[in-house]
Amino acid sequence: MKTTLTVLLIIQLYGLASCAIKQHYFIDQKKTWYDAQQYCRTNYHDLSTFIDEIEEQQFLQEAVSQTSNAWIGLNKSSGTWKWATGEVTTQISWDTAYDQPNDDDCGLLYKSTKKMHDAECRSVFFFICMNVSEFVMVQQSESWEGALEYCRHHHDDLASLSSSRSMTDALSKITGAQTQYVWIGLRFLAGGWFWISGDDLILNVWSSAGPPQCPAQNQRCAALDKNTQTWTPRDCEEKLNLMCVIQ
Ligand SMILES: *[C@@H]1O[C@H](CO)[C@@H](O)[C@H](O)[C@H]1NC(C)=O
Ligand SMILES: *[C@@H]1O[C@H](CO)[C@@H](O)[C@H](O)[C@H]1NC(C)=O
Repeated sequence: MKTTLTVLLIIQLYGLASCAIKQHYFIDQKKTWYDAQQYCRTNYHDLSTFIDEIEEQQFLQEAVSQTSNAWIGLNKSSGTWKWATGEVTTQISWDTAYDQPNDDDCGLLYKSTKKMHDAECRSVFFFICMNVSEFVMVQQSESWEGALEYCRHHHDDLASLSSSRSMTDALSKITGAQTQYVWIGLRFLAGGWFWISGDDLILNVWSSAGPPQCPAQNQRCAALDKNTQTWTPRDCEEKLNLMCVIQ
């Protein structure tokens, strides 16, 4: 419990981080920094950034499988290092053991030390793009299908809470719910539970020891329980508040 509170407190202190969930994708193509940025802006949200310790740790976890040094969304503008997304630049983990930054203008993650190096913007490297999403608590009561329709119409989708970072964010928002249970994008179909985002079901926050193997016909939609802070199977026709995601 203490850990959760500390995490929430840190998120609140940094403000911006409280509403954004970033997912990082290593791109297996070599491009200049600028071309990498264009690619990320076309196919994802932007080149990856991490503006506080929590985001940095999550970024490094997701980038751990990277095969090489990779551009990130960090460059010099008017002589000052900035996140190219325009986010407030706090501390940057330069690889001081290698005397970084040197005298170049674009930033990359150095594979072996997991710290930042600078490099000439026109050199070609692999790169890391990110998508950013944010959860919205909707105080309206709908069936699970109604919730899905509402989120797809007004936002982007029902929320998939597939990472611990997403869970933390959802729990910070569920306090505003008027129902004890809140619909999330988790459903039992064709013999298994799945996130409608297509994310893997790795995290396990079920109210039972594990995912309910053979839920009754009327217990095949999952909701987040505000009291126990777990996922629990409910009747899809039940009218509950909902958690949507903006991507
Ligand atoms: C990332 O976001 C873009 C734009 O919103 C979307 O088209 C794409 O499917 C997302 N990629 C992943 C892997 O979620
Ligand atoms: C750094 O990125 C910003 C934002 O995309 C851009 O305006 C600027 O020209 C870039 N600077 C360099 C040196 O490429």
